[in-house]
Amino acid sequence: MGSKKRVQLWKKAIIHFMLCFVMGFFSGFAPTAKPSMSDFSHQTKLPQRLNTSLLGAGNPAPAGTKTTSKDEEKQGDLIPRRLVIIVTPTSKKDRRQGVLLWRLANTLRLVPQPLLWVVVEQQSESHQVSEMLRKTGIMYRHLVFKDNFTDTKAEMDHQRNIALNHIEHHRLCGIVHFAGLSNVYDLSFFDHIRAIEAFGTWPMAFLSANRKKVIIEGPVCNSSEVMGWHFKNLSNLTDKSMTTTKPAIHVSSFAFNSSILWDPERWGRISSAQDTSQDSLKFVKKEVLEEETQLKGIPSEDCSKVLLWNLQISA
Ligand SMILES: *[C@@H]1O[C@H](CO)[C@@H](O)[C@H](O)[C@H]1NC(C)=O
Ligand SMILES: *[C@@H]1O[C@H](CO)[C@@H](O)[C@H](O)[C@H]1NC(C)=O
Ligand SMILES: *[C@@H]1O[C@H](CO)[C@@H](O)[C@H](O)[C@H]1NC(C)=O
Ligand SMILES: *[C@@H]1O[C@H](CO)[C@@H](O)[C@H](O)[C@H]1NC(C)=O
Ligand SMILES: *[C@@H]1O[C@H](CO)[C@@H](O)[C@H](O)[C@H]1NC(C)=O
Ligand SMILES: *[C@@H]1O[C@H](CO)[C@@H](O)[C@H](O)[C@H]1NC(C)=O
Repeated sequence: MGSKKRVQLWKKAIIHFMLCFVMGFFSGFAPTAKPSMSDFSHQTKLPQRLNTSLLGAGNPAPAGTKTTSKDEEKQGDLIPRRLVIIVTPTSKKDRRQGVLLWRLANTLRLVPQPLLWVVVEQQSESHQVSEMLRKTGIMYRHLVFKDNFTDTKAEMDHQRNIALNHIEHHRLCGIVHFAGLSNVYDLSFFDHIRAIEAFGTWPMAFLSANRKKVIIEGPVCNSSEVMGWHFKNLSNLTDKSMTTTKPAIHVSSFAFNSSILWDPERWGRISSAQDTSQDSLKFVKKEVLEEETQLKGIPSEDCSKVLLWNLQISA
């Protein structure tokens, strides 16, 4: 009997010892496990925050994301970038349409967000342009119209007006620029136009495959103040009969704050929603040339650098 009892006592002791060992073993882990986990998450959070702020400071965001501008707003210390609205009229009649659209899309993809690309074309059965736009990853609006035109220039102006009416109707606040498919850009161009408050203008170089000459048109500036203009037909400007009428400014050589389309107090314009016969494009061009004090020359070092080329390749 006595030996049996001793065995039971031993058994109890061993089980007790085992339990204590196991509990001690695990409890020994518990306190070290916690801090090491939080240390880990702390360490990973910090560089992430650093990296996103670095992204927000200048690197182009991945295409198609609106999140960067939101992140910037949240961070508070960074001013959100202004929206750039690029308007591009295009026509199926131009057989180079697909290639040139891709070329422009590949430039716009590299521009920091937010950027909206408004592409206007005649309505058709083909979904080529809409499919292409979807693939670019750029934030875009694809507008179509039904009217038939024989005059290409009139058609393009009509398309630009459609875009302007869309911008006005939806109150899209941003800096509007008309980018033709023949345009080739220095990427810093887009940083400069973001800084425009009302109107901006810049010199533009015209190159063509057939002509050897390069023609530069645009403003003559003192710092960012516009003092005069270079136009193709400069000799005509000295002609007395021409001095009162300013020559037509090229549609791609200016940009403007879209709010001028609907701010009657400041710009004295009745909304075109009330008067659809109004030619928004004509209005904007007139304002650019008349509001000299509001016009900013780009780049601000005497408009001395060409950041935009018009490259004509015959079809
Ligand atoms: C930012 O992220 C990259 C990987 O995407 C990493 O190599 C780099 O060290 C990070 N930078 C900082 C400051 O943590
Ligand atoms: C434009 O022309 C096409 C044929 O080329 C015709 O089917 C269409 O009805 C015309 N549209 C308008 C608005 O006149
Ligand atoms: C555009 O003009 C409006 C006033 O008409 C102004 O409130 C707004 O800040 C301007 N936008 C930019 C980007 O300067
Ligand atoms: C350019 O602007 C500066 C400062 O505004 C002025 O002193 C200078 O006379 C201007 N130059 C010309 C050629 O107008
Ligand atoms: C400019 O001059 C050229 C000829 O030198 C002419 O063909 C063209 O129509 C003129 N442009 C304007 C806007 O007067
Ligand atoms: C001046 O303008 C007229 C049209 O008003 C045009 O016929 C002429 O070619 C222009 N002169 C030059 C030198 O471009």
